[in-house]
Order: sequence, then C-alpha cells, then structure tokens
Amino acid sequence: MKKDIIKECKIYIKELFSFDHSGHDYLHSIRVYNTAMYLAKDEKDIDLEVIALASLLHDVDDYKLFDSKNYNNAKAFLEKEKVESSCIDKIIDVIKEVPYKAKESARPHSKEGEIVQDADRLDALGAIGIARAFSYGGKHDRDIYSEDKIIKNNNLTFEEYKNLNSDTISHFYVKLLHLSSLMNTKKGKEEAIRRTKYLQDFLDEFFKEVNMK
Ligand code: ADP
Ligand code: NI
Repeated sequence: MKKDIIKECKIYIKELFSFDHSGHDYLHSIRVYNTAMYLAKDEKDIDLEVIALASLLHDVDDYKLFDSKNYNNAKAFLEKEKVESSCIDKIIDVIKEVPYKAKESARPHSKEGEIVQDADRLDALGAIGIARAFSYGGKHDRDIYSEDKIIKNNNLTFEEYKNLNSDTISHFYVKLLHLSSLMNTKKGKEEAIRRTKYLQDFLDEFFKEVNMK
C-alpha cells in the first residue's frame, strides 16, 4: 500500500463532500477516522490500514448523498491508488456493515468492522451528535420538536425508519438514545454511555424550558 494513501484519501473526501454541510461532511469522516484510531489503540490482530481507509471512505457511497451503486466511489479511489484487490474487498466489507438501519442494522463480522461502526455511531452522540441532528433537521425542513407527538418507537424496520419524516427531537428517541446499547467494543461503549448522558441532560433541560409555565 502506498505510504501517503491516507493523505490522498483525505484530499479525495474533502473534495467529494464539499457540497454537504448537513452532518455528512468531510469533518464527520475525519472524526470517524480519528475515533476509530482511538478505539483501535488497545486492540490486537487488527489491520489498521483497513480501519483507516474504511473509516475515511465509509460515507462516500451513502444512498442519501450519491447515486453511486455497488460502492463505486470507494472502489474507484482504492483502485486508482493501486490497493490490492483482497484489501479492497476487506475495506468494502467493513463499509457495508457500518450504516445504522434501525432494527435491521448489521452486527459487524470483523474486529475492524466493529471499530468503524462504533466510531461512526459515536459521532451521532454527545455535543457533536446534537449539532448534527439539528443540522440534518434544518436541511430537511423538519420541526425542532412536536407539540403533541414526540415519537418514541425504537423498534422500527429500516423502511419505517427511513420514511419517518418526524421532528428532530423524536430522532433522539427513535435512534440516538439507543445507540449505546448497540456498541461493539468496550472502549466504544464507555464513550457512548458518557455521550448519551450528555444527550439526556440536553433533553432534560430542553423540556424544562419547553414546559415552563
Ligand atoms: P451516519 O451514516 O454518518 O451514521 P446518518 O446518515 O444516519 O449518519 O445520519 C447523519 C447524521 O444526521 C447523524 O448524526 C444522525 O443522527 C442525523 N440524522 C439522521 N436522520 C435524522 C433525522 N431524521 N433527524 C435528525 N437527525 C438525523
Ligand atoms: Ni457516517
């Protein structure tokens, strides 16, 4: 593998995501990469290059942003960089299992996949997670909250989850508050619990203000 491929990959995603500012931006991928490297520190028998490239490329074929099929953007980048085909396959296998799909979310088959999935999920939690949720809500014309129907269902199929079109506070109850129970790694789970407490404090304060009489 070329020595400066990580640098090239960062340049590639910076350009690719330059149009999006709703939470799937370049800096999201950089944070997922840094967090994955942090989670990987104490693990043995893992392929760090697979983790690095899969985390940087995990959203380059996201169905919400791109028309690309079959992980074409990720594959094209890796082929251009002359990455071995067996390594490309490993990276794509990791990327496939990352996305959150409500109760149809994948349980990763590799340690590398567990780490990258945890890193992506951590970025939906804590202060960053709150910022991303409202940014996403703004971009999709969603209400901040609903007066009478905050949705609290955490047992949705992927189809139901995708079509929900609810207010942004509902997204906390539909997805964010459950993520910590779905983490794969010990360090990821500890950090997810810490970040979820922050979300809970935010919601407590939010409803205190909303319900002030
Ligand atoms: P990723 O694949 O990076 O985990 P998603 O595509 O699921 O992210 O979502 C990107 C960001 O937007 C995440 O922080 C997520 O929590 C947030 N988000 C996704 N759907 C909604 C929604 N319906 N309302 C508010 N925020 C959302
Ligand atoms: Ni992501």
